[in-house]
Amino acid sequence: MMDWTDRHCRVFHRLMSRRARLYTEMLTTGAILHGDRNRLLGFDASEHPVALQLGGSAPPDLATAARIGEDFGYDEINLNVGCPSDRVKDGRFGACLMAEPMLVADCVKAMKRAVSIPVTVKCRIGIDDQDPESALDELARGVIEAGADALIVHARKAWLNGLSPKENRDIPPLDYHRVYRLKAAWSGVPIIINGGIGSLAEAKQHLGFVDGVMLGRAAYQEPWRLLSADPELFGEPAPHATMKDVFAAMLPYIEAELARGTRLHSITRHFVGAFHGLPGARAFRRHLAENAVKPGAGIGALCDAMALVEDSAVAPIAA
Ligand SMILES: Cc1cc2nc3c(=O)[nH]c(=O)nc-3n(C[C@H](O)[C@H](O)[C@H](O)COP(=O)(O)O)c2cc1C
Repeated sequence: MMDWTDRHCRVFHRLMSRRARLYTEMLTTGAILHGDRNRLLGFDASEHPVALQLGGSAPPDLATAARIGEDFGYDEINLNVGCPSDRVKDGRFGACLMAEPMLVADCVKAMKRAVSIPVTVKCRIGIDDQDPESALDELARGVIEAGADALIVHARKAWLNGLSPKENRDIPPLDYHRVYRLKAAWSGVPIIINGGIGSLAEAKQHLGFVDGVMLGRAAYQEPWRLLSADPELFGEPAPHATMKDVFAAMLPYIEAELARGTRLHSITRHFVGAFHGLPGARAFRRHLAENAVKPGAGIGALCDAMALVEDSAVAPIAA
């Protein structure tokens, strides 16, 4: 999620689930082809399985960017056909590509030829005045015939004229049944549902109709929910029993990053919702907000913040 997630966030999330697949925020082909690749694409080995999400619409550029991503070690390349921001519209990629299903199919074909890892597409159910039945069918048929290995569908339209990107994540109504019908039509292709799913209990219900569930805001804002993902969804033990254990496991990574010159706040900014709703959560957040931003802030600021959360409050939390 652009401006929210980064590799530090993914390392943190990976400590809560070994099995969930993590996705990078969208990176444009322009940035990858012409920018500082190590800074943009570098990631920690612990993040696997991790997918690189690309934004673009020129098949040769997407093929090259996908190959670069594969060489960096990503496990999947995902094409963004869902982002509605103006910047993205001007560049002719993101959600506006819902209107150009043949071009999206060509993009997928080019990426499939370039890499041997899975190539997937994340899309909406339609844009503007498109009919979601035919728009999603056409896009899906095109990319599946081009070789796409899975589709992730944000189960609402994007309205490209008049709504901000934030409004486009809330205002167009959710239509989960449209995604279920897509799955029914394509039984052999993994279909993953996304949009407004707030808990693992809700995720489980969707899994009766589709192959996977993608959590965006819930995963970021209430990361503790991820601690239940492996036991609840995969029948495997959680990597750690409590959020305090997660932080203890993260300390060596943070220390190594601080030694490389990373500022503490760049990492701890992802911890805001870690104890959401528990006694001490507010004090934890406030302590980090005040202390982790100080120049030269060290690991002590995080340890002190953690001490403000009562141990009794961090028993394993229900999904
Ligand atoms: C701050 C922010 C940035 C986002 N950036 C991306 C992005 O880079 N790529 C993408 O596919 N979706 C992006 N999204 C959309 C989410 O992936 C997701 O589709 C959307 O929020 C709906 O799912 P949710 O209700 O689980 O959050 C972003 C969402 C937010 C809130």
